Amino acid sequence: MAAIKSIKAREVLDSRGNPTIEAEISTGKFSASSIVPSGASTGKYEALELRDKESRYNGKGVLKAVSNVKDIISKKIIGQEVDVEKIDRLMLELDGTENKSKLGANAMLAVSMATCKLAALKQNIPLYSYLQNISGTKKLSLPVPMLNIINGGKHAGMENDIQEHMIMPVGFKSYKEGLRASVEVYHSLKSLVKKKYGSALLGDEGGFAPKVESSHSRLELIKEAIEKAGYGEEMALALDCASSEFFYEDHYKMGDKKLSAGELIDFYKELAEKYNIISIEDGMDEDDWEGWKELTSKLGNKIQLVGDDLLVTNVNKIKRAIEEKSCNALLLKVNQIGTVTEAINAAKMSFDNNWNVVVSHRSGETEDTFIADLVVGLNAGQSKFGAPARSERTAKYNRLLQIEAELGNKAAYTKLR
Ligand code: PGA
Ligand code: ZN
Repeated sequence: MAAIKSIKAREVLDSRGNPTIEAEISTGKFSASSIVPSGASTGKYEALELRDKESRYNGKGVLKAVSNVKDIISKKIIGQEVDVEKIDRLMLELDGTENKSKLGANAMLAVSMATCKLAALKQNIPLYSYLQNISGTKKLSLPVPMLNIINGGKHAGMENDIQEHMIMPVGFKSYKEGLRASVEVYHSLKSLVKKKYGSALLGDEGGFAPKVESSHSRLELIKEAIEKAGYGEEMALALDCASSEFFYEDHYKMGDKKLSAGELIDFYKELAEKYNIISIEDGMDEDDWEGWKELTSKLGNKIQLVGDDLLVTNVNKIKRAIEEKSCNALLLKVNQIGTVTEAINAAKMSFDNNWNVVVSHRSGETEDTFIADLVVGLNAGQSKFGAPARSERTAKYNRLLQIEAELGNKAAYTKLR
């Protein structure tokens, strides 16, 4: 069996023009590479993204992570079989810290994802099949995408604000049809935004970022765009509030307005009823476990409540959230935890407890399409890859189109309700 013969690593750029790490692993005959994404509204408890904190690239350089791959990780894994579970285990032993602060989660993830790609190449199977095999997934499906078409909060230079306003094509026969309808809504929204605000500038995730003060007005805009494009109930809405960004010790803030946890939940309830919202992510702060419990007891039987910063793709957090009934879905971001194996374990624990799983990008993305294969290979059923614009986002949507064509009737489009 061909083993790992060499590993290279280098500093490359993400979609915000910040440095990130790429690793390339080779067996001699085959080689594969992967690039790590990076968040902006990063959860406090995420695994550590190692940055140089020196003058180059305003402190954001990743040369330490690069040298950790070249000088430390490579020594341990060269000569090993191309098996991601084994490689991840070895890296975890090498790192030995709770939050991957020794090697850096970015260094480890680049190697972990590249290992999966190399293994798939070696076995001459698609990456989603490799991920299916290692996760023990029985059937495959194409996900319902959540498309972030109006960016707010930190992604659009706004404060005390809901971060993402998304559409979800729930009532369509195929992923391809759902995507087409979503793109039509995106373009109808573009015309509306242009007409009302003069220009249609984009935020970090490719959604429009008009200077609209209230969530109500933004959701009205989306509602109008859906109607103008000729759709109705089949196009549902979803929010990522990223509320840790507007939580201040004992209260929340929406614009200038101070809100208690209870008042914020009432506000979400009102929005959900008015605008066909079926999913709310990070409605409460990452440390407000009481608030999450209240949110889930009040809205959890009707709405998908997704934990992102709350759970940071970490099984310990997920376990607590299951026990305390804090939410009912996991947002899975591979770089929050730093290895593919651990991310898969997080998904499995969620499935085992009847939660939904949404496989997600970061606001700082790259041309790497790993997560498109992951969402199919895990049969997760929902993806979150931003707007259908800007190549770092469309690369993932396009990869899903390829997979759908390849699988034909072997993989259905997910039915959410
Ligand atoms: P981030 O945003 O990548 O900036 O953290 C995405 C999200 O909050 O889901
Ligand atoms: Zn989020």
